[in-house]
Amino acid sequence: MNSERKVWLNGELISWEKATVPLLSHGFSRGSAIFEVFGIHDGPDGLFAFRMDEHLKRLMKSAELLEMEIAYSIEEIIDAVTETVRANDIGRGLVKILAYWGEEAIIKLVLESKLDVAIFAVPNNEELGMDNTNPISACLSKWRKIHPETVPVAAKSCSNYLNGYLARKDANNRGFDVGLMVGTDGFLAEGSIESVFLIKDGVLKTPPLGRVLSSITRKSILQAAAMNGIPTSEDSILPEELFTADEIFTSHSGVKVSPVARFEDRNLQVPGPITKQVMELMNNILNMSDDRFSHWFHALT
Ligand SMILES: Cc1ncc(COP(=O)(O)O)c(C=O)c1O
Repeated sequence: MNSERKVWLNGELISWEKATVPLLSHGFSRGSAIFEVFGIHDGPDGLFAFRMDEHLKRLMKSAELLEMEIAYSIEEIIDAVTETVRANDIGRGLVKILAYWGEEAIIKLVLESKLDVAIFAVPNNEELGMDNTNPISACLSKWRKIHPETVPVAAKSCSNYLNGYLARKDANNRGFDVGLMVGTDGFLAEGSIESVFLIKDGVLKTPPLGRVLSSITRKSILQAAAMNGIPTSEDSILPEELFTADEIFTSHSGVKVSPVARFEDRNLQVPGPITKQVMELMNNILNMSDDRFSHWFHALT
């Protein structure tokens, strides 16, 4: 099936198999690539990308934070995403954009060239599990979130995911689905590929930006919740608060809201009332039945 799929690589649609890099490329051997992932939704008039403008701004921001330069503008990447989605006929799915140095660098660390760009359009499948709202289990990871003064955590760079990999591996080894990381400052940060929210006394709380990725889903949930009268807070959270929270959920672009049914040795009722309200809100937005958020979608067909 992959042989029929097309990848947009530096201005051309090529076959999936041909979209490769040399093993000694900087992007692969140093792990310096940056990326974005966002959902493609099947709307009444065709396919739509969710908050693509925000994702592409974040891609540019990742490059800026790492002092890299992408070879294409936001407008060019928007056209390229449209071309890739049309060429692949994916239906509901996601787009993954990688910007990377495909140039070989055996020991050289700082390259002068601009970043190559590859765009993949992938249909929803078992691995992606988009729209899966099954409750999950979560624990506190033994691994700390990387400190924002070591590498910029706001940059969505591949190398940051070694931290996420370890947190997920540790959680899985202990029988949990996801591991939530605490920063070296002792405050709650986020999961491997997901933001964390807790609800206490009717307030929807999530850790502040600065120590977490500026997640587009996190931002969307905070905006939608506030517009629907749910009080929100972005103040520092101590990990202990997870043990007394009324509700906990995680979120990311693939699965908008995953209610947490077990946190460490505590069982929580799922979905709790506010989590349920947030799930319904996000569902209505993604079904395009809430007109207040129609500007969050970009038509692709
Ligand atoms: C560390 C981390 N936090 C949060 C998220 C959620 O971000 P978004 O909602 O933009 O997908 C991700 C997504 O990949 C992530 O890797």
